[in-house]
Amino acid sequence: MKFFVDTADVPAIAELAELGMVDGVTTNPSLILKSGRDILEVTREICALVPGPVSAEVVATEAPAMIAEGRRLAAIAPNIAVKVPLTWDGLRACKVLTGEGHMVNVTLCFSANQALVAAKAGATFISPFVGRLDDINLDGLDLIADIRTIYDNYDFQTQILAASIRSVNHVSQCARIGADVVTAPPSVIKALASHPLTDKGLDQFLKDWAKTGQKIL
Ligand code: G3P
Repeated sequence: MKFFVDTADVPAIAELAELGMVDGVTTNPSLILKSGRDILEVTREICALVPGPVSAEVVATEAPAMIAEGRRLAAIAPNIAVKVPLTWDGLRACKVLTGEGHMVNVTLCFSANQALVAAKAGATFISPFVGRLDDINLDGLDLIADIRTIYDNYDFQTQILAASIRSVNHVSQCARIGADVVTAPPSVIKALASHPLTDKGLDQFLKDWAKTGQKIL
């Protein structure tokens, strides 16, 4: 399963990239606001840092302007994936932009039917928002499973990019279901290696080692 980092925080991306934990990056208007950076500048920096797909989101809501913005974002670097919302205008923009050879990430997906029409529109990635469905007491992971089944039934090539990931449980469950990608905040990715029994066991090893009076170097 690929890990994309869901942030526009360049130092945080760089730290995880050094560990081999970054197969791509996703941003959105809220993450750009949080970064305090210019979208074109920070996206260019991220594309230079991470060879994998880097999602940058359009903010227009009508297809012609979405297409124009998408072309502008795609011109930043070859690894740009243009992010469009799951609306009919977004799907029209998706069809045109993928037809021109650009990667497109269709975002704000909350139903299996939305994922179905995104695949038919040629989306490179579909971004179902797991956490936001959980927030309204629906099971976001059920949506990932539904989309996996539907895409496999018809051999759709659109990659499931599970988004709005809030916990390490979301990550492992998405892996069990067979999502192609999870995009998660740096904090969630860092938490994947943590376990209290590992800390406890290491602590005991070091205490016992100290009692041997030995050194390796
Ligand atoms: O990629 C989408 C993600 O940034 C949304 O996450 O936690 O705001 O639902 P969240």
